[in-house]
Amino acid sequence: MRPPAERQNLRLMRAMFHTVAPRYDFITRAFSYGMDRKWKRTGVQEAALPESPVVLDLASGTGDFSDLVRSVYPRATAVAADLTERMLGLARARGIPDAVCADAGRLPFRDGAFDCVFVGYGLRNFRDLRASVREIERVTRPGGLLVSLDFFLPANRLLRRLYLAYLYAQGVFWGVLLHGRPRVYTYIPDSLRSFVSIDDFSSLLRGNGYREVEARSFILGGIGLHWAAKNDLSSRAAP
Ligand SMILES: C[S@@+](CC[C@H](N)C(=O)[O-])C[C@H]1O[C@@H](n2cnc3c(N)ncnc32)[C@H](O)[C@@H]1O
Repeated sequence: MRPPAERQNLRLMRAMFHTVAPRYDFITRAFSYGMDRKWKRTGVQEAALPESPVVLDLASGTGDFSDLVRSVYPRATAVAADLTERMLGLARARGIPDAVCADAGRLPFRDGAFDCVFVGYGLRNFRDLRASVREIERVTRPGGLLVSLDFFLPANRLLRRLYLAYLYAQGVFWGVLLHGRPRVYTYIPDSLRSFVSIDDFSSLLRGNGYREVEARSFILGGIGLHWAAKNDLSSRAAP
């Protein structure tokens, strides 16, 4: 049985993403000025996976990472997992049949089941970041990868404040325009406020079962793309 605070958090997450699901893909492109797909594609292409990889697209939303993995690796098996049924319905409608309702904190997969776990804008929303990273590490095979794309706090303090204010204003703009509700998209700066920087996340990975970590920064440290190997990163082919 989960503690009440954890259940409440999962309920709120589900309700929020249930509301935004139909507009989610549009808003992701709008927030990133169309760069989001390119960042995700870089994440997939530079992961250099085996020819027929088995991958988990965690916090999949509508299944962007699954879709890209299948376009780069036509023989891949991609499993999408998300907390919100409405998101999973959109993923299935997009032709991603393996779409499973699951909480990142307790994944219903065996140890070492995946060659790679992709997480797009997910880690920031997980209640316990460290525990979720450990759970991701558990379901990754030794030598397998974690690839994460997310918002991060810029290391520079002034930049951090400007970035949060900018994301808040952008959230209000789109919330009012698309839903008539200013707070619908302000969860992005809200969840980011207590999150970490790109470098801090790299350190967290190193301390939780990942020996090799590479990170790329976009938008002055506001967006980060991480590749982390559970074992030996040197076995990855050069991009
Ligand atoms: C910002 S969306 C990201 C969607 C997609 N990965 C992308 O890159 O566009 C975050 C997703 O995480 C899911 N989520 C939030 N908390 C979760 C949890 N504890 N376990 C699994 N999924 C979760 C939400 O339902 C939502 O679909």
